[in-house]
Amino acid sequence: MVNKLKEITAIAEKRGFFFPTAEIYGGKAGLYTYGHLGKLMKNKFEWLWKCYFLEENFWEIEGNSILPEAVFKASGHLKNFNDPLTECKNCHFRFRADEIIEDVLDKNAEGLSVKDMDSLIKKHKLKCPKCGSQQLTKVEWFNMMFPISIGAVGGKDVAYLSPETAQNPFLSFKREFEALRKKLPFGLAMIGKVFRNEISPRQLFFRLREFTQAELQIFFDPSEIDTHTEWKKIAKYKLLLQTVKDRKGDKVKAVSCEEVNKKLKLPKLYVFYMQQIQKFYLEELGIPKDKFRFHELSSEEKAFYTKLHWDVQLNLESLGGFKEITGLHYRTDYDLEAHQKHSKKELSVYLERKKKRVLPHVIELSFGVDRNIFALLDIFFKQEKERNLFSFPSAIAPIEVGVFPLVSKDGLPEMTKEIYGELRKNHISCFYDEDGSIGRRYRRIDEIGVPFAVTVDYQTMKDKSVTIRERDSMKQKRVKISELAKHLK
Ligand code: GLY
Repeated sequence: MVNKLKEITAIAEKRGFFFPTAEIYGGKAGLYTYGHLGKLMKNKFEWLWKCYFLEENFWEIEGNSILPEAVFKASGHLKNFNDPLTECKNCHFRFRADEIIEDVLDKNAEGLSVKDMDSLIKKHKLKCPKCGSQQLTKVEWFNMMFPISIGAVGGKDVAYLSPETAQNPFLSFKREFEALRKKLPFGLAMIGKVFRNEISPRQLFFRLREFTQAELQIFFDPSEIDTHTEWKKIAKYKLLLQTVKDRKGDKVKAVSCEEVNKKLKLPKLYVFYMQQIQKFYLEELGIPKDKFRFHELSSEEKAFYTKLHWDVQLNLESLGGFKEITGLHYRTDYDLEAHQKHSKKELSVYLERKKKRVLPHVIELSFGVDRNIFALLDIFFKQEKERNLFSFPSAIAPIEVGVFPLVSKDGLPEMTKEIYGELRKNHISCFYDEDGSIGRRYRRIDEIGVPFAVTVDYQTMKDKSVTIRERDSMKQKRVKISELAKHLK
């Protein structure tokens, strides 16, 4: 497991998926840069996410990362968005009290009060992970938002870097609702950078201080929470679930949407999005079933703004098991109500067709884009006897086709470049390379997950055909250049 993490991180850094930011100054934990391959892959993931989740009357907006303090007073983040902090009195290392409890005592610390954590630390004589001292300060809550001051007013105009994109759709809801069809359900998505001042980020690229979220807020009439127009079509679909009770024995059960609605009492609208999300992972991203599950959070573990909270967890070998990647939250009218109260602006809307006024409720899909990218690297990484490869599906592969001349002489490079140009015109993302033996070039693109290689050889001169090599099987076939783009598409 540690080896796999090391292996993936080494390839990511060497080949340009991601690497530590400001490396030349020693870097900073929790800050990473996407290299050229990572950025291509992230673009593809975000595009796929938008194509898949933005259904009728769902739109994308782009708000700000800097938001005024008033927003977070209202949203509850100033009061509740905290991690428990303790400090070693000897070496002054500051770290999360819940993590040391979880690591050393193998006990879930979510929902414990600072007093409970203090008692556990004392009772079990837990030590500073850096210097081993038992002299630790009392546990305190540490707010995870980065404060900043706006303009030259000396800290009077306080703002924060937003820890979630969600607040932007809440702030823009009324304006966009009026600008559009004044109908519910209505979705506002935002993909953007968010910031969390993690106390001591571990797990390299997986826990970042600056990261990207793809979030969708679905505003709906609360009287319709147990309905969905497509319900009949999805009722028999089986969701892969781990309820709080199933944690013992680490069970995952396949339960039909119908049963989830009837027995687990999750409303149909919420279940519909569970189904959509599961299909996105299994069918669009090609995640194997046994690596996917919905994981129910207990009332102590749930985020402060949500009534229902299930996470998507994926089994990541390099991180030692199932990890949270995405969340599905029923935020009720918590946010709109809070902003209405604090701003003193009416945020309810009039529904013409129903002749009534409602303050909409919200279901939120919250995807950590970077965690998803890391998960894809973990899940699709393979080591074979002679090569490393990422067996990404084309939809998320950073580059789709490698285009190579067999040798870099006799007019083959010129002919290859023409083909490369044609493929680019057809919007196929490709990569030209003529350096080294053809075998080494195939290995190089396998290692970055390119699904196909097109090779121009001496026969190309004679009959205008090229070979296509498929990454996973390494099988090759010949096709006519005139049919190449169609074939690859
Ligand atoms: N918007 C939910 C979250 O940041 O987790």
